[in-house]
Amino acid sequence: MTLFLKTAVRAAKAAGAIHKKFYGKTLHIQFKGKNSLNLVTQVDQLSEKKILSILQKQFSTHDFLGEESGLQKNNSAYTWIIDPLDGTTNFAHAYPFFCVSIALVQNGIPIAAVIYDALRDECFTAEKGKGAFLNGKPIRVSKISTLEKSLLCTGFAYMVRETHYNLDNFAQFVLTSQGVRRDGSAAMNFAYVAAGRLDGFWERGIQAWDIAAGALLILEAGGKLTDITGTPFDLFAQNALAANPKMHSILLKILTKGKDEKNWLKRYGKNKKW
Ligand code: IPD
Ligand code: CA
Ligand code: CA
Repeated sequence: MTLFLKTAVRAAKAAGAIHKKFYGKTLHIQFKGKNSLNLVTQVDQLSEKKILSILQKQFSTHDFLGEESGLQKNNSAYTWIIDPLDGTTNFAHAYPFFCVSIALVQNGIPIAAVIYDALRDECFTAEKGKGAFLNGKPIRVSKISTLEKSLLCTGFAYMVRETHYNLDNFAQFVLTSQGVRRDGSAAMNFAYVAAGRLDGFWERGIQAWDIAAGALLILEAGGKLTDITGTPFDLFAQNALAANPKMHSILLKILTKGKDEKNWLKRYGKNKKW
């Protein structure tokens, strides 16, 4: 394990200890902007502070992009992308599905990743070219190759009330797959696809910190990752489709045909971002 990953795991576990300390306790909840679906708690902030203090001590010349504190630029080729608590809404309701997500990106390409679920003590890690692991044991994507046998997962961005994006695709897959989960932590969902617990995941309106670590896990576990139209993966594309390679092409066909894609194009155009 490189010093990059070792330090990332140390930081993720330190944040995980904060998650455990506050889990199920009364929290100080605020809202981001005017959106009453987008919560932030003191645990998001404390966790990010802790992660940054560990990473910055070791790699003071790198860039840092944290969900809560934004971008700190040093003009480095290396950027740490941090989601200190993915699944804040779950956490605020003491629903046990959330994690820490940390990735190191070199010139736009994720090279080290950790996703840590403190409640289950599950630590998903990956380094570019070295495979993906769960608590040190190799993981692979599933071999499921038909929609009827697949367990899928998705998420709804905080703008769902305005956009209604994904309601159509969600319904399509509920009617054709073995099941569709929507459990509120995109990073964990990526880790679960990498570990073969889910066969595919998609979401529209997702941020780089939700997916940077998960992206590397997927690729290193033998999965396929693109945006929802099949364009090669881009951390800032704000939508993603991750699956085992067979399910990826099956899901892609359906996602690009539905009402959601037409509405997305109408509203944002081909290259526009949120
Ligand atoms: C959210 C979760 C959720 C996804 C949202 C994300 P947060 O992240 O990953 O599953 O549907 O798009 O913003 O706010 O809990 O860190
Ligand atoms: Ca997130
Ligand atoms: Ca978060």
